[in-house]
Amino acid sequence: PFPDGTVLVKLAWKHVQSPEFEPASIPGPATTVQVMVKDSKKYAATGGWGFGRFINGKSADEAQHQTCFACHQARVRNHDFVFTRFAP
Ligand code: HEC
Repeated sequence: PFPDGTVLVKLAWKHVQSPEFEPASIPGPATTVQVMVKDSKKYAATGGWGFGRFINGKSADEAQHQTCFACHQARVRNHDFVFTRFAP
């Protein structure tokens, strides 16, 4: 499990076709910044993680954050609700 104080950030971009080599995709415009903050007391109801999302630099509304935990809980509850693995 990740310790309290852990902050994970996911940066997302659109993918667009490479102008130099059509079969390849490259990052296009930035879309969202998603954040998970570990605080096992404050966020006890959602596995110890607080979820936040920023679109165009603005925080999305609270209700939206409920959907975050549902998916992470359904898929990776046995990995502290985190999808990403450390490189072997
Ligand atoms: C429908 C499923 C789904 C929903 C809903 C979802 N996520 Fe995720 N999330 C993923 C998947 C799959 C990954 C790993 C692949 C990737 O990074 O795209 C991930 C990765 C992350 C990561 C990087 C750490 C990790 O677990 O690998 C953060 C941070 C994150 N999500 C935050 C959020 C936030 C905040 C929300 C709500 C606004 C959210 N997620 C909603 C599926 C979801």
